Amino acid sequence: MLDIKEITIVIWEVLALLYINVLPVHSASKNIINGIPWYDQNGKTVNAHGACIIQDAGKYWLFGEYKSDNSNAFQGFGCYSSEDLSNWRFERMALPVQKEGILGPNRVGERVKVMRCPKTGEYVMLMHADDLGYKDPYIGIATSKTINGEYKVKGALTYHGQPIKKWDMGVFQDEDGKGYLLIHHGPIYRLTDDYLSIDTLVAHVSGMGESPAMFKKNGMYYLLSSNLTSWERNDNFYFTATSLEGPWKYQGLFCPEGSLTWNSQCTFVLMLPDGTPMYMGDRWSYPHQASCATYVWMPMQAEGEKLSIPTYWHSWDIQSKKPSDVLETASEVRPLSFHSKDARKEMRIRFKGTHVALHGKTGPHGGYASITMLGQMGDTLYSSMIDCYSKVPHEGIRLITPELKYGDYTLIVKPTGDYSTWSDKKQRKYGADDCWVSLDKVYIFSTFTNH
Ligand code: GLA
Repeated sequence: MLDIKEITIVIWEVLALLYINVLPVHSASKNIINGIPWYDQNGKTVNAHGACIIQDAGKYWLFGEYKSDNSNAFQGFGCYSSEDLSNWRFERMALPVQKEGILGPNRVGERVKVMRCPKTGEYVMLMHADDLGYKDPYIGIATSKTINGEYKVKGALTYHGQPIKKWDMGVFQDEDGKGYLLIHHGPIYRLTDDYLSIDTLVAHVSGMGESPAMFKKNGMYYLLSSNLTSWERNDNFYFTATSLEGPWKYQGLFCPEGSLTWNSQCTFVLMLPDGTPMYMGDRWSYPHQASCATYVWMPMQAEGEKLSIPTYWHSWDIQSKKPSDVLETASEVRPLSFHSKDARKEMRIRFKGTHVALHGKTGPHGGYASITMLGQMGDTLYSSMIDCYSKVPHEGIRLITPELKYGDYTLIVKPTGDYSTWSDKKQRKYGADDCWVSLDKVYIFSTFTNH
């Protein structure tokens, strides 16, 4: 047994360790903050795009595409866990790049979805696998006995003996334990009881687009889908049905027209414990997806045939499902007038505190900025990028730096001179047309957040 003195020494040692360490102190945040990078237990950006969440053994498990900043090639599917949906722990690469095959080197791996098969107890992962030109699509399947992997690839799903040569997909698990595979532009397949193959095609939803996501509430099935605009955001829409077989009824948009689904593309809907459906969307940022693609998660209002996210919340409290103000605990707000695209000029912000939030605008002429945080000795403690592009302009928080021990720091902001741009299969050009970075405020925090 430790006596009180020994316990005190242990506590002091633990505290000392915490304060020497430059690793971020894990925040006790209970908020979802949309459109900015989130950090895992190691201070690394949560990298899980085209994601899904399942609940298992008292935790939430997030699976997603582990993106890179310079290539669209498959980097693996990451797995994170959380007890509160806000603080995420990187578990492992649940499915790494394979030596060969549909998820081998220089392939594309997207929209990973995981379900636990009630009959076998196995975790079944489905995904879109493709070549870099999106001309060799498959729906791949992998399984694991443990939720966080490592998943073993079984191959490509077939229907009537032929591989399903389609791209965007989603999954849905019904209350009776049956698993479904949703495919872009229409098909809904029921999986066999072991989830390892396709049983039958149950419906073909006419008018459906890409990135299908489904949930059920009070006997009503809701199917969300996006238009075909590559990494660009668009006004996503939905269908309803009282049976999976249909008839499926087109219901229009679930976010205000022109908001481009609050600047996101749907990927999944998680049912929260109180029955609220939580929308999960991607705010892509091609080509620097690892640093700059972010998440938009919002509670949805679903009542009969009506589904909506009427207003955008920059941040919200998971418990109350009400908007929150994560900037209100700042100890200082400094105005900035940074409007530049000059990659040779940097802005230096010196501050005493634990972390900062940058506030500014995004718009069609916005580009990337590099962000670096230096310690007192000039050592780099954090470096990343922000994307100031959005097709529809937006103003708000662009970044919150990881929380470090209280001290003297310098934040350096510098336009990189490049911007988010890409073309689709038809060579249509998308993205920004210039590389402006516009920041108007910095919020300085001197205590760890408990938002
Ligand atoms: C769409 C799809 C994504 C990805 C991109 C590639 O946004 O939904 O999963 O394939 O196109 O352009």
